[in-house]
Amino acid sequence: MNILVVGAGGQIGTELIPHLQKNYGYDNVIAADVRPEVVERLSNISRSIALDALDVKSYSAIIKENRIDRIYNLVALLSATGEKNPQLAWSVNMGALLNSLELAREFKCSIFTPSSIGAFGNNTPHDNTPQDTVMRPNTMYGVCKVSGELLSDYYHSRFGVDSRSVRFPGIISNGCLPGGGTTDYAVEVFYEIIRKGTYTCQIPENTYMDMLYMPDALEATTQLMDADPATLIHRNSFNVTGMSFSPKELFSAICKRVPSAKFDYNVDPVKDAISASWPNYMDDSCARKEWGWKPKWGMEEMIDDMLSAIRLKQL
Ligand code: SER
Repeated sequence: MNILVVGAGGQIGTELIPHLQKNYGYDNVIAADVRPEVVERLSNISRSIALDALDVKSYSAIIKENRIDRIYNLVALLSATGEKNPQLAWSVNMGALLNSLELAREFKCSIFTPSSIGAFGNNTPHDNTPQDTVMRPNTMYGVCKVSGELLSDYYHSRFGVDSRSVRFPGIISNGCLPGGGTTDYAVEVFYEIIRKGTYTCQIPENTYMDMLYMPDALEATTQLMDADPATLIHRNSFNVTGMSFSPKELFSAICKRVPSAKFDYNVDPVKDAISASWPNYMDDSCARKEWGWKPKWGMEEMIDDMLSAIRLKQL
């Protein structure tokens, strides 16, 4: 199977590349990004292709030349960045998705495009958020994610495109830093505590959000895409979560390991409104039932692993 990862230079892409190489063979994974040099520096790949996913002609040529069977479309501006320039977020996030779905239809590729907890909004039940529920997000990022879910399901029912996806919560990792998201604090804190011993958080101390450690997020992407389609009742998109905590809970668990760590708060009103509109914890039982989703990492193990990985970086 030949796999193309588009938008490969971000937090997920740089770690998805080696994960896919391990599962499907080193030479069967092609990375493409507007900044190909970033992908080469951060992931285990020697050559990546320069591609702006909005340029459908170049995108099509890459799929054709490399006989691509599966697309991972990771192109997106995240939630906080999207609020700084909503029109740009719509045109990048939706433009890349429409091109990806069209090319998947034309070249008969399967396609994965992540959705997000950002697809939910203030009217969604925040506790045990069901798989099928009210989705009225109040960010441009969320509007794109809901539209993306609908469009991906439409391409499946109308054209038979094998589109599948998950609603990722905040993803915690120690490879490439996330950029412009509301859940970024749960990654940044580890770097700042190791580097400076202090961290100022922009999210209120008692705001709960779902999170997932990167190894589980990677497993989700391959497990879902390799699942027997006959078992799938849903497609776009499945709730998946590994843990849920507030900044206060996370920081007190970090303090048990780094007693000298100091935390304070300088709440960002945009991130406050966004995080308050998202689930506290999602019900991911449909993913568990339909394709065997079972995360391995909880908060305590994640913290131990993050601290040791970031200490090794000698910041
Ligand atoms: N991590 C994303 C964000 O905060 C959520 O999907 O924007």
